[in-house]
Amino acid sequence: STPVIVAIDGPSGTGKSSTSKAVAAQLGLSYLDTGAQYRAITWWMVTNGIDTADPSAIAAAAGKPEILSGTDPEKPAITVDGVDVAGPIREQEVTSKVSAVSAVPEVRTRITELQRSIAASAVTGIVVEGRDIGTTVLPDADLKIFLTASPEARAARRSGELKGADLQATREALVKRDAADSSRKTSPLAKADDAVEVDTTDLTLQQVIECVVTLVEEKR
Ligand code: C5P
Repeated sequence: STPVIVAIDGPSGTGKSSTSKAVAAQLGLSYLDTGAQYRAITWWMVTNGIDTADPSAIAAAAGKPEILSGTDPEKPAITVDGVDVAGPIREQEVTSKVSAVSAVPEVRTRITELQRSIAASAVTGIVVEGRDIGTTVLPDADLKIFLTASPEARAARRSGELKGADLQATREALVKRDAADSSRKTSPLAKADDAVEVDTTDLTLQQVIECVVTLVEEKR
């Protein structure tokens, strides 16, 4: 049978990564975390002293780092110029700068090409998660899912056990990043017209996974 291509988009904290990895593992598909790629290029910019507030500096450097993504859902790997950056890309500095870097068209063109070539080489199929997969990267995907959740639920998931001021700060940072991602000019965070929207606010992770697995099986 032909490879099945699944696009999973949505804002941060909706359970995209956990859902995408579990669905890919259950169905024997590859997995691609496109947010990790934008974080990786942002990490390289920060590490190399590129001013992330200067879009022309970012554009000029966009082609320099070599970014490699593993596609095993059990152990997703990400390297920049051969350096394992799986840990560093989750740090606060990268998280706060990634929206500015990923808004630069030269960055998006480069990363989008990378994503399409990875998807095209998946043998059984692939689950690709991000913000613009259904709209821009893989508009012909067999199944498009758009995950949502209330800002409260998303902040709570992101911050785990945090309470009070920490939860409030996490919520504010998350809302700010989503607003930036949704309002940028080049392929903003958006639901594709033909995407299935799943509101995860009152669902457990297991329920979301089951829902998506069922939808994929209907397409195969
Ligand atoms: O999914 P994650 O939170 O790791 O994504 C980090 C950032 O990467 C997003 O806030 C967004 O700025 C950018 N991104 C993007 N397009 C994608 C995936 C992520 O612009 N397809």
